Amino acid sequence: MSDLTQYMKTRRSSLSLTLEEPGPDADQLRTILEIATRVPDHGKLAPWRFELWPMNVRQKVHDQLQERLYAATDIDDVEKKAQGTAKLLHAPCVLVAISTAAEHPKIPIWEQHLSTGAACMNTLIAANSLGFEAQWLTAWYIYRNDCRDILGLAPGEQIAGIIHIGTNKAPKTDRPRPDIDSLYSIRES
Ligand SMILES: Cc1cc2nc3c(=O)[nH]c(=O)nc-3n(C[C@H](O)[C@H](O)[C@H](O)COP(=O)(O)O)c2cc1C
Repeated sequence: MSDLTQYMKTRRSSLSLTLEEPGPDADQLRTILEIATRVPDHGKLAPWRFELWPMNVRQKVHDQLQERLYAATDIDDVEKKAQGTAKLLHAPCVLVAISTAAEHPKIPIWEQHLSTGAACMNTLIAANSLGFEAQWLTAWYIYRNDCRDILGLAPGEQIAGIIHIGTNKAPKTDRPRPDIDSLYSIRES
């Protein structure tokens, strides 16, 4: 079995809260982005973009989101969501993958979003290939129209992943994996 196969068979994410310094430097980040964008992309639209959120930006975004969270009257489990928001402040590197999918005469928006998902997955793999650990997260605020200004999204854009990257010194345990036999079949007719 090749090293790549072995890696792909056993890869897994780390919890963002276990990620510590060091994170990727500028050259390593460039490599991560090269790999992230080397994904299938129907129509060669590159329907994604990435933003690195340095800690000062994360702090500002976090504080504004918390303010909006506590002011909202239509959000449940506010304390839990506040904790989720605070995850923004932990890992050494936070890279935000944004789908820029837009109406196109030939390529459905769904396919453009799928390509963004592939870019997120490649980001995790790229981080691992450089010796880092990573986790792909989303959160309540990416689905709220009243948070789009805080997130800095242009009309039509959507965050696909908030990808936390760093070093995990704690041992990782695996999680139960899907039963292949229950999700795979050979069509008979
Ligand atoms: C689009 C997307 C959003 C996710 N959002 C969260 C999240 O908000 N919180 C969380 O705990 N896990 C979230 N996850 C799951 C984590 O990425 C988690 O680490 C993962 O299921 C474990 O994956 P692994 O098989 O790579 O170890 C999300 C996964 C995806 C694909």
